[in-house]
Amino acid sequence: MFGFRYFTPTKVVFGKDTEYQVADLIREFGGTKVLIHYGGGSVIRSGLLARVTKVLDDAGIAYVTLGGAVPNPHLTLVYEGIELCRKEGVDFLLAVGGGSAIDSAKAMGYGLANEGDVWDFYDYKRKAKGSVPLGVILTIAATGSEMSDSSVITKEEGLVKRGYSSDYGRPKFAILNPELTMTLPDYQTACGCTDIMMHTMERYFTNGGNMEITDAMAEGLLRTVKEQAKILAKDPNNYEARAEVMWAGSLAHNGLTGCGNDGGDWMTHKLEHELGGLYDVAHGAGLAAIWGSWARYVYQNCLPRFKRFAINVMGVADEGSDEEIALRGIEAVEDFYREIKMPTNLRELGVKATEEDLVLMAHKCAVGVGGEMGSARKLREEDMLEIYRMSR
Ligand code: NZQ
Ligand code: ZN
Repeated sequence: MFGFRYFTPTKVVFGKDTEYQVADLIREFGGTKVLIHYGGGSVIRSGLLARVTKVLDDAGIAYVTLGGAVPNPHLTLVYEGIELCRKEGVDFLLAVGGGSAIDSAKAMGYGLANEGDVWDFYDYKRKAKGSVPLGVILTIAATGSEMSDSSVITKEEGLVKRGYSSDYGRPKFAILNPELTMTLPDYQTACGCTDIMMHTMERYFTNGGNMEITDAMAEGLLRTVKEQAKILAKDPNNYEARAEVMWAGSLAHNGLTGCGNDGGDWMTHKLEHELGGLYDVAHGAGLAAIWGSWARYVYQNCLPRFKRFAINVMGVADEGSDEEIALRGIEAVEDFYREIKMPTNLRELGVKATEEDLVLMAHKCAVGVGGEMGSARKLREEDMLEIYRMSR
């Protein structure tokens, strides 16, 4: 077990109708002029944006709005938002939407509070020294960005998708109303559940510092999301299931399920980020498409964890060799993905990758991680390429 820092400053307000508390929360954290940032328009169609602006109008809080954050959010919109906020004297950011709107707002926060080009942070050239305070009204349970320190932005030039993590980016508050996720397409709900599980699995499959209390929480979270995802695939308006998944999404990526270990593996995410950058696929679906290949490539180097996962999370019988049990666990995950209509390879993801594409992604991925990365097994460029090939 390793020592750790656990920092989760986000005030969570959870339950039905909680979006009506947004003005009080903005005031509590000192906001006087707000940028409301959202995505492609689902919050307009659902009526949420109109409800939020009415609450701010009634409270006398000034605001401007900026929509347009796309999945795999773009750097140019971040620049646009920074300019708008400077012009309007914005001192508080409110993201209304999913990971894309939240991450885009986080990047604006860094850009506003620091000199120079905000991309420098995503290009690992320097570290942010502050951020503008951010609040969130979440509409999709998935990335955990509502409590996490990370944000992921795509630079259109060269299609470079990069993450930057800083405690300054952690939202001041997160309004979590599970009912807001009921307008999601089934595909996005399933993508979200996959991403939530992956955030915990990335921290679980490690070769360093595992801790029983963390494992127990991680396994409980994984079993819960797996079962609730199956319920939502059949009954999308089930409030209890929506609520379980929403809270799991925040806990899966606020650091809780990684306490005591070596920080996690994270290679499935890194491999997916290249897919997202190049083919613009939904993040959760990209993870599902790559995970099985990653798992088969690395499981022998992390066998005790794969065996434990198979038995404790996927319900595989403790019979046969460790290797057989581990492989049955991987198959069970893929069966689960199929059950919730997630892809298990690139073809099912709808991606027709050429060998040149795979070589390019493996190269960009290796550069992005600084040569090699992974805890279940350290991967270098040639390993990454092999996993992409296996996933075709
Ligand atoms: O853009 P709108 O119109 O809102 O539509 C979105 C989008 O098309 C739609 N949607 C969201 N809530 C909805 C809804 N449609 C109907 N009803 C609702 N209630 O769903 C689609 C996906 O939204 P998006 O915000 O892109 O999804 P997600 O939350 O999965 O975010 C994905 C992005 O976050 C990054 C991903 O790489 C990707 O760029 N990640 C961020 C992380 C973080 N900051 O901690 C960690 C993750 O691992 C991830 O990498
Ligand atoms: Zn993710």
